[in-house]
Amino acid sequence: MATPLLSLIFFTTLLFSAHSELCNPKDKKVLLEIKAAFNNPYVLTSWKPDTDCCVDWYIVTCDPTSNRINSLSVVTGSLSGQIPAAVGDLPFLETLDLRKQPNLTGPIPPAIAKLQRLTFLRLNWNNLSGPVPDFLSKLKNLTFLDLSFNNLSGSIPPSLSLLPNLDALHLDRNKLTGRIPYSFGTFSKVPGLYLSHNKLSGPIPASFANMDFNVIDLSRNMLEGDASVVFGSNKTTQIVDLSRNLFKFNLSKVEFPKSLTSLDLNHNMINGGIPVEMTALNLQFLNVSYNRLCGQIPVGGKLQSFDYSSYFHNRCLCGSPLPSCK
Ligand SMILES: *[C@@H]1O[C@H](CO)[C@@H](O)[C@H](O)[C@H]1NC(C)=O
Ligand SMILES: *[C@@H]1O[C@H](CO)[C@@H](O)[C@H](O)[C@H]1NC(C)=O
Ligand SMILES: *[C@@H]1O[C@H](CO)[C@@H](O)[C@H](O)[C@H]1NC(C)=O
Ligand SMILES: *[C@@H]1O[C@H](CO)[C@@H](O)[C@H](O)[C@H]1NC(C)=O
Ligand SMILES: *[C@@H]1O[C@H](CO)[C@@H](O)[C@H](O)[C@H]1NC(C)=O
Ligand SMILES: *[C@@H]1O[C@H](CO)[C@@H](O)[C@H](O)[C@H]1NC(C)=O
Ligand SMILES: *[C@@H]1O[C@H](CO)[C@@H](O)[C@H](O)[C@H]1NC(C)=O
Repeated sequence: MATPLLSLIFFTTLLFSAHSELCNPKDKKVLLEIKAAFNNPYVLTSWKPDTDCCVDWYIVTCDPTSNRINSLSVVTGSLSGQIPAAVGDLPFLETLDLRKQPNLTGPIPPAIAKLQRLTFLRLNWNNLSGPVPDFLSKLKNLTFLDLSFNNLSGSIPPSLSLLPNLDALHLDRNKLTGRIPYSFGTFSKVPGLYLSHNKLSGPIPASFANMDFNVIDLSRNMLEGDASVVFGSNKTTQIVDLSRNLFKFNLSKVEFPKSLTSLDLNHNMINGGIPVEMTALNLQFLNVSYNRLCGQIPVGGKLQSFDYSSYFHNRCLCGSPLPSCK
């Protein structure tokens, strides 16, 4: 009598425990592959085959209804090697965040394009190399894309302007070359645009006249020509950083958006003078130093609240906070 009863209990327990695990077996298999590909790093110690990835594992989270892995996020440096292609086999992933991994190298794998539910992709402060991939434009639900502080090279793929939901695009602090794509003046939803600290050259595309960026940072590149298309009295732009480029245009003719709170133009070849309309702006930051500006700094608004270093090293700019005009 005892043996069949015991085996019944055993069988029920087995059945119950198999059903009580929330983790999807396909996701578990893929995550264990990812762990092996990263050479079993310390940060993934909790990923054990006999435990529940939705309950017991750190670094990942499961969707509460589907119990599928929806987030993978490693933010302390201990991953090494390349991002494994297996990452593309987590079809319910919405957040992929691998940052501050100095030993994470190699290219961004094409398998990432399979992650159609991805809304948040942050791979910043790593040592990734190769291009900014064109295939990222297939991730139509992306709202946030940050590849900054890496070793990415080549030109910016024009197709990124096809991402319809982007709030922010960070490609700053890489080794990107070539021009800013003309298509970046055609975003349907205009993201914050961060392209600073690269080796971008050529002019700002004329199509930027149609783009109302909330934030645009093009600083520390080798961009040239007329940057006045960035501005416009009908825009709602708040932060503009064009510093340390080769821009050359007449500042007197620029119509600034009323919304502008921060303007950095230092180290360019900008001529003309500071238009009196700038006294109407509610600026919290201004730096027009190291340009070719001339004439009197208009008196009023916030313009005298900045110190002389906001204005120094120009051709013949004068008046408070610089020495008075002769
Ligand atoms: C990166 O790799 C180097 C050389 O293998 C090692 O000394 C260092 O500790 C690693 N850094 C991290 C954050 O894992
Ligand atoms: C990239 O690797 C180099 C050494 O190869 C290291 O000095 C640097 O800190 C790493 N970069 C980042 C952003 O971690
Ligand atoms: C993309 O987002 C929309 C709106 O949030 C949603 O309806 C759609 O299912 C998402 N697509 C994928 C592939 O997850
Ligand atoms: C950056 O990439 C270049 C090749 O494109 C390579 O020579 C260099 O070592 C890389 N730097 C780092 C810090 O990984
Ligand atoms: C601003 O006005 C110009 C023409 O006056 C127009 O071409 C441009 O599309 C407008 N920009 C925005 C953001 O409305
Ligand atoms: C800049 O434009 C103003 C107003 O049109 C004009 O008076 C001035 O001569 C121009 N300055 C330069 C350097 O072109
Ligand atoms: C303006 O920029 C110049 C050049 O980088 C710098 O020396 C100066 O301190 C800056 N001033 C302010 C107020 O940001």
